[in-house]
Amino acid sequence: MIHSRITGTGSFLPGAPVSNETLIAIHGLDSSDAWIVERTGIKARHLASPGTTASDLALPACQQALAAAGREPGQVDLLIVATSTPDYVFPSTAALLQAKLGIKSGGAAFDVQAVCSGFIYALTIAEKFIQSGSHKCALVVGSEVFSRILDWRDRGTCVLFGDGAGAVVLEAAPEPGILASALHADGAYNSILSVPGHLSGGQPIGDPFVRMDGQAVFKFAVKVLAEVAGEVIATAGMHKEQIDWLVPHQANIRIIQSTTKKLGLPMEQCILTVHEHGNTSAASIPLAFDHGVRGGQIKPGNIVLFEGVGGGFTWGAVLLRF
Ligand code: UT7
Repeated sequence: MIHSRITGTGSFLPGAPVSNETLIAIHGLDSSDAWIVERTGIKARHLASPGTTASDLALPACQQALAAAGREPGQVDLLIVATSTPDYVFPSTAALLQAKLGIKSGGAAFDVQAVCSGFIYALTIAEKFIQSGSHKCALVVGSEVFSRILDWRDRGTCVLFGDGAGAVVLEAAPEPGILASALHADGAYNSILSVPGHLSGGQPIGDPFVRMDGQAVFKFAVKVLAEVAGEVIATAGMHKEQIDWLVPHQANIRIIQSTTKKLGLPMEQCILTVHEHGNTSAASIPLAFDHGVRGGQIKPGNIVLFEGVGGGFTWGAVLLRF
């Protein structure tokens, strides 16, 4: 049987961190650093300069991941980008990124749209491709410029998000790296977190900004994250005591604390970047994972649990041996 394992990680954040105080001053928000930190844990985020796209942020993250894996871009035969803030309507951000990486006549390249669960979806898809024997070396990326779809007059959403990219190289291996994965969606909850607009005739139709019922999202997230984490642990035939690190979607420290508590894991086993990055949607899990790896916390052989939830609603988890 063909297995797959992560052989390299990388990430990229644009510019200098923007503190809560600076964001509040720039946009004249009726908010405070104390409110944002208390309700979300977020102290700062990175924001891309105008004209910088998701593929621009993804490029250095991918180059770093490839270097860590000891691979050249030309060896990548599958490129999947999870993003809700693509460069264009089409071609896909993955196709544009493939060109920027200098991959000529490469393998498959496509985007995945599952909002903040996008990286979990993309990683699971890549694993299935590799398991089937059709592909050997995948670059799996989460990259977002969420600042482009924020309404800076809406204090309930604009303080929460940031821009960034994270990437992993996933390769065919004789021993399992990915131990179990689970993906879910329930479109009936589409309206509690959405950008309910589209382009038509050169104009935005509907609302082109992030809209959210924060409390409904909070409750839903805590419930499904604990469930899906339990699901992958059971599928792998393991128990929670075997987990070395939890790398959750970095949306809100209170959601992370609640799910960690429900799982019965100490917070010390949780990789946290939400304080400095805010919620970078599909980029948040690979960004946090790369920080954990480069920071020396996550070591080869460690058992790591990824879990994410986002608009759709979508949610999922991946349990792996690094
Ligand atoms: O990937 C998933 C992405 N989404 C999330 O993770 C969001 C999940 N939800 C949350 O994190 C929380 O619901 C929020 C942080 C968004 C809001 O916290 P909350 O404790 O649920 O606050 P709330 O929505 O109940 O609002 C309480 C008050 C309201 O004022 P009034 O009506 O009581 O006067 C809000 O208008 O807080 C106000 N408020 C703010 N005040 C200062 C909302 N945003 C802000 C703000 N600064 N930035």
